[in-house]
Amino acid sequence: MRVAVISDIHGNALALDAVLADIARHGVDTVLGLGDNVSGPVDPAGTAQRLMALGGLSVRGNHDRWTVDLSLRGSGAIDAFARAQLNPSQLDWLADLPATAAHSDAVFLCHGTPADDETPWLDTFYAGRTTTVPGEAQVAALAGGLDYPVLLCGHTHIPRSLRLLDGRLIVNPGSVGMQLVHGSPDARYAIIERRPSGWHTNLLAVPYDHAEAARLAAANGFPQWAQSLTNGWVGPESLS
Ligand SMILES: [Fe+2]
Repeated sequence: MRVAVISDIHGNALALDAVLADIARHGVDTVLGLGDNVSGPVDPAGTAQRLMALGGLSVRGNHDRWTVDLSLRGSGAIDAFARAQLNPSQLDWLADLPATAAHSDAVFLCHGTPADDETPWLDTFYAGRTTTVPGEAQVAALAGGLDYPVLLCGHTHIPRSLRLLDGRLIVNPGSVGMQLVHGSPDARYAIIERRPSGWHTNLLAVPYDHAEAARLAAANGFPQWAQSLTNGWVGPESLS
């Protein structure tokens, strides 16, 4: 089994195109999505169109929830912008995404943690500019009761692959469309593969036309997102 994992596209159809082209070159059985699909200033509708055509299994992220229901706590201007771009069938697709899912009884999908789409799992989420790996016990506790060899999460936009002491693999593929605090504008995704020796992780970085993405973000009224799209050095404090 060989699958690609994409997460946190945040409406960046340009980054998604580059990642899907790279995935096609690698050859995979399917593409799994971890949410935060459309909420961003580049091209939310184009992103939804591509993901619906792709048809892969996807869970929803916190920003997908907030885009569907702008009255929820946490919803902001970027979610309202995304929602205004989507047509009714795209909004229906977004609203129907499950909170968690499983692929072939081997791979579990969630956005933040299995229990919550706003909680970071594999790293503390931006205490200032510091992200650190929590202790194994803390990470493992959030994986309790999940009998899958591979657990997937997103949300923090930080690519990481951890193996629990019991052998289970937890992978965050990073963000396709919104790079924060790790010093690169390149799009991120992962390929995971089951080989005789076990599950392997490949964390990939794909260059794309990030200058055009930044231009669109600024033109759509989100210059602070344009900064982050331009260089990937910017933290989430700059987005609010
Ligand atoms: Fe996100």
